[in-house]
Amino acid sequence: MAISKTLTTAELLALEKKYCSFGDTVHYLDPPKVFVNCEGSYLYDERGTPYLDLQMWYSAASFGYRNSRLNEALKRQLDRLPQLACQYLHAEKVEVAARIAQYCEKRFGVKGRVHFNVGGSQAIEDSLKIVRNYTGKSLMFAFMGGYHGRTLGASAITSSYRYRRRYGHFGDRAQFVFFPYCFRCLYGLRRETCNLYCEDQFEKLFASEYHSVWDPKVQAAEYGAFYIEPVQGTGGYVIPPKEYFVRLKETCEKHKILLVDDEIQMGIYRTGKFWGIENFGVVPDIIVFGKALTNGLNPLSGIWAREELITPELFPPGSTHSTFSSNTLGTAVALETLKMLEEEDYQKLVNEKGAYLLAGLRGLQQRHREVIGDVDGLGLALRVEVCKEDGITPDRELADRIFAEGLKGNLEAGGRKYGLVLDVGGYYKNVFTLSPSFAITREEMDLALELLDQLFRRCRAQ
Ligand SMILES: Cc1ncc(COP(=O)(O)O)c(C=O)c1O
Repeated sequence: MAISKTLTTAELLALEKKYCSFGDTVHYLDPPKVFVNCEGSYLYDERGTPYLDLQMWYSAASFGYRNSRLNEALKRQLDRLPQLACQYLHAEKVEVAARIAQYCEKRFGVKGRVHFNVGGSQAIEDSLKIVRNYTGKSLMFAFMGGYHGRTLGASAITSSYRYRRRYGHFGDRAQFVFFPYCFRCLYGLRRETCNLYCEDQFEKLFASEYHSVWDPKVQAAEYGAFYIEPVQGTGGYVIPPKEYFVRLKETCEKHKILLVDDEIQMGIYRTGKFWGIENFGVVPDIIVFGKALTNGLNPLSGIWAREELITPELFPPGSTHSTFSSNTLGTAVALETLKMLEEEDYQKLVNEKGAYLLAGLRGLQQRHREVIGDVDGLGLALRVEVCKEDGITPDRELADRIFAEGLKGNLEAGGRKYGLVLDVGGYYKNVFTLSPSFAITREEMDLALELLDQLFRRCRAQ
């Protein structure tokens, strides 16, 4: 089957095998899957088979593939000012920064500034610089199950040892703390009665200098900041109890530890609020964003930091830089995204669709209660945790089979062939992390539930 004017799929895969690095995530599936087209909630293979996408580029394409309004913004900028060195100014950069800072001021009552970069990990690096510069400390707290990217600095605060193992010693490796993953409480407690015991344990670290993080004589911590995701993304869309971050923030504040909120995956309404942290009633010191701000069109990431941390005196020109950091194409799309968000009630839209899909997933859990241990969701960030028949032992093999089977493109509904695009995450790689397009329709959600049901039935029987 011809995949481009010159190459068949087989030829493309042979070339890829020979000339492309395997170092990215492509070869998680063998053979890698090739897509040639996309529209709305669908990816299309070379045969024209639609694959309903429930992960939307890990939430980067939240507003739907080839969103016409955002694509037009990109095209307009392409025809006007497609390139400009970051040392000069263009209007879109300033407007995006102002809108984000004004939103944070209105929402949190805190003044701040925005700094741009091009990818999530790079923005995390910039946030680390801000923390180190302000506190003079290079060590951070972060959560087990947290993911902040794969540059060296971001890997040092990402819990998975797999991402660090081959790269020598990480002297600035974070101190990793248990996340309130209540379905698998590491203390074996129940949410209804635990009174956030896990947060108590974190707080106890500061009770004595011998617990290794705090010098009571001078009232100083060895750690500059605590890096959090409001809902763990790669960790399996784990939603913490509502009150958890309030307690954590109190502990951090008491010990002069900054709170850095990584919103790269959950920000821009994925959880039904502009920032995911708005669901939890705390004000972070720094917010890191990326992905959906440009719908994945031209990468743009950045940080918002409280004024005190990022004053021009403290963080002067040249403190950090990338050639592409506030690129004109990315900022033009980001501006259009922000305008779009102001014109429609995304909070309502995302929460309504999320509630519908969550109810459907709970129905799916009823039908497959032997193998779906947990279903949960916040806005349109939803999780389906695949377990063995005891309801708790992770079943990675079944999750992998379902994932691979969905990509075969041979499911059937309404007399038509479909595929289903899923993402597998979680501490045990047994969780479907669902982040569908915000533009997904009821019919598409019904189709998603039907295709998931078919996949569970087919793969359980294998
Ligand atoms: C929460 C979070 N932080 C950081 C990153 C890294 O972003 P990027 O892949 O753009 O470097 C990701 C990417 O998935 C993420 O989900």
